[in-house]
Parts: sequence; structure tokens; C-alpha cells
Amino acid sequence: MSEAKIIDGRKFAAEVRRGVAAEVAALKSAHALTPTLAIVLVGDDEASHIYVRAKGRQAEEAGMATLEHLLPRETPERDLLTLIQRLNADDTINGILIQLPLPAPIATPKVLAAVDPAKDVDGFHPINVGRLWSGAPGMVPCTPYGCMAMLKATLNGLAGLRALVIGRSNIVGKPMAALLLRENATVTIAHSKTRDLAERCREADVLVAAVGHARLVKGVWIKPGACVLDVGINRVSAPDKGKGKTRIVGDVDFEVARKVAGHITPVPGGVGPMTIACLMRNTVIAARRQRGLPDPAI
Ligand code: GUN
Repeated sequence: MSEAKIIDGRKFAAEVRRGVAAEVAALKSAHALTPTLAIVLVGDDEASHIYVRAKGRQAEEAGMATLEHLLPRETPERDLLTLIQRLNADDTINGILIQLPLPAPIATPKVLAAVDPAKDVDGFHPINVGRLWSGAPGMVPCTPYGCMAMLKATLNGLAGLRALVIGRSNIVGKPMAALLLRENATVTIAHSKTRDLAERCREADVLVAAVGHARLVKGVWIKPGACVLDVGINRVSAPDKGKGKTRIVGDVDFEVARKVAGHITPVPGGVGPMTIACLMRNTVIAARRQRGLPDPAI
């Protein structure tokens, strides 16, 4: 059997970033508008700090402005809500990103619902969630949007295909299912309580794994020729690299899966790079809509 074609997320992301940078340059020259993203991070989660730095860097590289609010872990919820109100009211801010997870006891749903839906570049506000499921234009969460862009570029249409989403998070699983449904796929959502995961995988023409469990999806479960998107980012020990060394792997057993699938995203270098690129895209879209301009073709 031939090996799967690798879906190169870095290449897709570079193309999105090029489109975003061109849009930003056009907005600056034609409308004197510099899209501006406010990034809010509460606490000291190491991975969150790495992501936030990458988001800030990519925004600057695209010509956008950023405002970082790095708040201590003990920040009271009411202070965070006050900051969000201030960012909502500030006309120079086009996008607001609240990095997740928020430390307990902050009520994440309450905080996400406080963001102006027009500035909600993550697409996590209940209004944008409702718009996504009802098919109205809104802000679409970045990782699922990036996955769909790669799927559409890889497959000749999704209508009628059986799609399996493993994971039901608000950030990836649920919005991913909504987007696949919008493209007329027949969608199943699996999760930790799903009894017959192997069987569900064997039926799937499109498989999106977003559970956060290293190599949960076995290569032999995959339908020959399927398109596999691996959203997982899991750190595992790698004794082959030396004592105490680790590596990042996905939710799919890549080495076996690549011998069965038709197309597959690697980890790293697959879905990951598209997430931040799509955040940049959402920020440009938010800025344009706030000026009454149509969505760009990025
Ligand atoms: N934490 C993990 N993924 C995400 C994301 O896509 N957006 C935000 N804001 N936080 C996250």
C-alpha cells in the first residue's frame, strides 16, 4: 500500500500569513487602519505563555499592533471583567483574545461572554457559537477553521463523506463538527464515553482527532484512504533520544496511520501552525467588519 500524502500545515499557514500581511498593508494604506489585537493572559501556565508570545510575534510580523495584558494568577474575576469592558469600549482595539485555560476560580464562560462578539477573534462567545451552528456569519474558532481550510484544499468536496470528530471541547471538537456539517458531511462526535471507537474510526472518510491523548487512535483503526487531521499536542517521554528526553506526538499513532491513510497531518507541523495563522485572519476580518468592509478572500 502506498504511503499517505502529508498535509503540510506549515505551508498552508505561511500562505494564510502572506494573505493576512497583504490585507493589513492594504488596510493601512487605503483606510489608515492598523488591525490591533489585545491579548489577555492570566496566570503562569507555561504553555499559555509560549502560545501568547507566538501570537504576539505573528501579529507584529503581519504588520498588526498588539497589546499584551499579562495578569497575575490571583487576579480577581471582577478585575478581569473590568479590563474586558475597557477593551470592548476602546475603538482602537479590533480583536480581544483571552488565553485559555483561565485559573480557578475564575468562571471561564462568564469571562468569554463578556467579550464584545464583534471583537471575539476566538469565536468563543455564545453569540458566535450560535451563529456557527445556525449558519449565520460570525467569528469561527481558529483551530477548526484551519482544519477546514486544509480539508477543503485536500479533498474534492466533503458532501456525503462520513466524518468522525474525536473530542467534544468547545475550542475544537464541537465547532469542528459544526463546520463539517455545514459542508454536508455526515458527522459523528466521539468522546471519552464512546464504546466502539475503533469501529467508528473504521467508517470515517475524514477523521479529526482532538482528545489530547497521545496516540489514542491506532493505525489499524483507520479506513484505508481516509483523510486524517491530528489536533493533539502531547508530550511523551522519548528514551530513544536520551535519558529524560521528551517529544511531542499527536492523538494518532502516526507511524502506522501513515501507511493506511490517504492524507494525514503530522505532529508537529500539521494543524498547529494553522491555528495562529487563522487567529491573524480573524483579527483582520474583525477589523474590516468594524469598518463596514467585506470579508477578505484569505
Ligand atoms: N487555549 C488552547 N487553545 C486556545 C485557543 O485556540 N484560543 C485561546 N484563547 N486559548 C486557547
